[in-house]
Amino acid sequence: MRLNAFLARAGVASRRRADELIKAGRVTVNGEPGQLNTDVGARDRVAVDGKGVERQRLRYVLLHKPAGVLTTARDPRGRPTVVQLVSDEPRVVPVGRLDADTTGALLLTNDGPLAHRLAHPRYGVEKTYVAEVEGDPDEDALRRLRDGVELDDGTTAPARARRLGRGRVELVLHEGRKHQVKRMLAAVGHPVTRLRRSAYADLTLEGIEPGAWRELDPAEVEALREASARGSGSDNSRSRRQPPPAK
Ligand code: URA
Repeated sequence: MRLNAFLARAGVASRRRADELIKAGRVTVNGEPGQLNTDVGARDRVAVDGKGVERQRLRYVLLHKPAGVLTTARDPRGRPTVVQLVSDEPRVVPVGRLDADTTGALLLTNDGPLAHRLAHPRYGVEKTYVAEVEGDPDEDALRRLRDGVELDDGTTAPARARRLGRGRVELVLHEGRKHQVKRMLAAVGHPVTRLRRSAYADLTLEGIEPGAWRELDPAEVEALREASARGSGSDNSRSRRQPPPAK
């Protein structure tokens, strides 16, 4: 890992500020001055101004996001944020985004490389949404959602879609464009009235009340790593089996 990323992950400074510390000669690696291109491994000793830097524990948190809370680290207008709902040791930030009025599964972590892969559309893991919509989508609307819907930022990748009941649709996406579910459903004539993310990859909210959270266990983290390494990009998603329509 690059020295600036190591310092950022350890909570010493942002990457940019870490670069300044490195350039100022205040950072040493195994007693030698660190450079901007220095890589840090598990056994290296890093110090700033002669004081050793502790490695930060990697944390993975699954939050049941309630409505009315912003998916951001800090809001200049002082509105409540998801980061405030989760304890601070060490600090984690959200992977991707849910709209303020969307509820459901939100992952937060301080593992930057994994977060990047999870959020990338090519490698992005599946996200399952349950939407309550105006009207009652018919098979034609579901087919359009599955095939890809033309939006103003391009056509969506093939998705899985099924009707759960009158005016209720489940959509499984691996993309994460802004307001994607709402825009897709509006485009097929069924604006969303309520939206919940029921699962992130295989992680569901079972046993987690709105506003509550839990740490993932090592097997769950490993499963996320595998899911993000596999990549569920648009190259292969078209071949996925569609679930049978709900009765
Ligand atoms: N799609 C949306 O429209 N909103 C969300 O919050 C998440 C996905």
